[in-house]
Amino acid sequence: MRTRRLGRTDRELTAIGLGCMQFSNTGASRRFYAPTAQDTAAAIVRTALDGGVNWFDTAEMYGGGHSERALTTALRDLGVRPGDVAVATKWPPLGRTARSIGATVGDRLDALQGFPIDLHQIHMPWGSLSPIASQVKAMAALQLEGKVGAVGVSGFGAAQMARAAAILESKGLTLASNQIQLNLLHRNAERDGVLETAKRLGVTLIAFSPMRSGLLTGKFHDEPELLGRVQPIRRVLGGFSTRTLERTRPLVDELGAVAAAHGASRAQIALAWLLERYGDTVVAIPGASRPEQAAELAAAGDLRLTERESAALTERSDRAR
Ligand SMILES: NC(=O)c1ccc[n+]([C@@H]2O[C@H](COP(=O)([O-])OP(=O)(O)OC[C@H]3O[C@@H](n4cnc5c(N)ncnc54)[C@H](OP(=O)(O)O)[C@@H]3O)[C@@H](O)[C@H]2O)c1
Repeated sequence: MRTRRLGRTDRELTAIGLGCMQFSNTGASRRFYAPTAQDTAAAIVRTALDGGVNWFDTAEMYGGGHSERALTTALRDLGVRPGDVAVATKWPPLGRTARSIGATVGDRLDALQGFPIDLHQIHMPWGSLSPIASQVKAMAALQLEGKVGAVGVSGFGAAQMARAAAILESKGLTLASNQIQLNLLHRNAERDGVLETAKRLGVTLIAFSPMRSGLLTGKFHDEPELLGRVQPIRRVLGGFSTRTLERTRPLVDELGAVAAAHGASRAQIALAWLLERYGDTVVAIPGASRPEQAAELAAAGDLRLTERESAALTERSDRAR
């Protein structure tokens, strides 16, 4: 699978990592996806590894540590050793001061069961009782103490990213990543300065919901009755509605045409488009609810689209948003 450098660190990540929100099982994130049994989570992780994936994205918020434990239990049971793969997790700022970053890192390491925090991210730029600058400084302190490998953020705008990067640089560190929604139906980063700022600063953009929470797989277009089974927060995040299905059908049809030419799935083509369009700046963290999906998603990391195919998808995307 093709790889990308994480920001300006020396860590090489596969262009496709595995998003582990699907392993939340409890708490608010449980309202995105139905619970995943541990043996299913283990099979998903094994399939992703077999497909060449070398890193995983989780978060404290994903079930208050449930996802972190499910992931690392699976890795341990598969004989993967700490350091063999990279693990990214996140600190949730909601209702907390920046001091909680240092105070909770031990809990994160406990939940990761011996796997190091290769990337620690501020989960969102809002909700904390402390300014962003204090949060970034607390993250910097963790990296300087050797408790985390690199510092990233999530959902940060262009100016917030630049400020975070400047604070880290004043301490001899760099901002490794900004995790944002990026997919054929959500290309805000192209207009709001985030993409340009990431390129300028050498920050990796980690594309979350790269299949628009599953909408770009086309299965809801094929079977609209599935919409009724989508969990509430996922429905909102992905904009799942019959009107959305109508508006996006030409794009999904085009994904289908390109997929047929490659003997691939629409999900894979949606991921391949992301990797082609944004090049070295972007890695994607699709989530999988089943092992077969993880196999498909990992294989997308090797797919190459022609310029014509990419352009046709971009043109349909322009009209669908
Ligand atoms: N930083 C943030 O604020 C933030 C926010 C959201 C997500 N994330 C991260 O991003 C990751 C991925 O985002 P996401 O889960 O929202 O969206 P996504 O990756 O676009 O969609 C994942 C879902 O699509 C369906 N799917 C996957 N592969 C498929 C395939 N080959 N064929 C058909 N359906 C397929 C599955 O759902 P079903 O089979 O259940 O339908 C799967 O759970 C999360 O796990 C999380 O790590 C971060």
